Amino acid sequence: MAANTILQAFKLKGRELDLYISPDDLFVPNAVSRLFAKIVDIKAGDTVFDIGTGVGVLAVWAALQPCEEVHAVDPVPAHCILVAENAELHGVDDKLRVYQGSLFDPLPADLKADAIIGDVSGIADAPGKSLGWYSSDVPTGGSDGTDVIIELLKAARNRLTSRGRLYFPVAVGLSDDEKIMAAAQQCYGNLDRKVNVWFPLSEEEYEVVAGCLPPALLARIQRRGSRMAWNGHIYEATCPKWAETGEDATRREPVYRQHLG
Ligand SMILES: C[S@@+](CC[C@H](N)C(=O)[O-])C[C@H]1O[C@@H](n2cnc3c(N)ncnc32)[C@H](O)[C@@H]1O
Repeated sequence: MAANTILQAFKLKGRELDLYISPDDLFVPNAVSRLFAKIVDIKAGDTVFDIGTGVGVLAVWAALQPCEEVHAVDPVPAHCILVAENAELHGVDDKLRVYQGSLFDPLPADLKADAIIGDVSGIADAPGKSLGWYSSDVPTGGSDGTDVIIELLKAARNRLTSRGRLYFPVAVGLSDDEKIMAAAQQCYGNLDRKVNVWFPLSEEEYEVVAGCLPPALLARIQRRGSRMAWNGHIYEATCPKWAETGEDATRREPVYRQHLG
């Protein structure tokens, strides 16, 4: 186990979960992780993907539900080691598989999910690093926070079963949320905003953010009561579509099969 690893309790949907974390080097589960656990709909028998699993908080939580199997992906090797250890700690290592790599790349090509938890990096590089939310080992969402989420939105269309649901976060102002939502609308016929929460910033945090965000994004950080705050959303996306045809994903498959047959 990594040198700086500690065991810490996290409360998710009323359930206390002990997890190995490495606060100095790796991503630490936070309020957004808890909000995901509140709204992700996992049904009995589901196949679940947790893309951007970090130390596996949502993957382990999902594996403790009556789903069939969980596949967790993260590009950071040290995250993947802790996911495996956290799965073993909770006795779910038989139904949780861990893959190191980007998005869906390391997964078997024909594997699809009923629920995709897509809590990937969605904060712009400058605030993510300057606020200390991302260590140098953990990739951020790029210069405007959209790089990983937009790739996820596009690729997930091919990875959902006909009843599949994709969950993704949007950090208004800390990323270019308008660009993310434009991509989401191009890719999915149905977008349901499940979470809309304001996260207050301390004065020092706001100073950091004001010093590194471009004016157009900074304008989206607003005063809520006595504090400046950023607005966090989580969406459930269903009904995948392809821009070139406007076709619905669930209809595309049989059409393709028909051509083959
Ligand atoms: C905001 S953290 C969330 C981690 C975890 N879901 C949690 O709640 O603690 C984002 C995660 O996305 C991962 N990530 C970044 N780029 C990725 C990519 N291309 N594919 C998969 N995961 C990625 C990061 O390594 C990080 O663990």
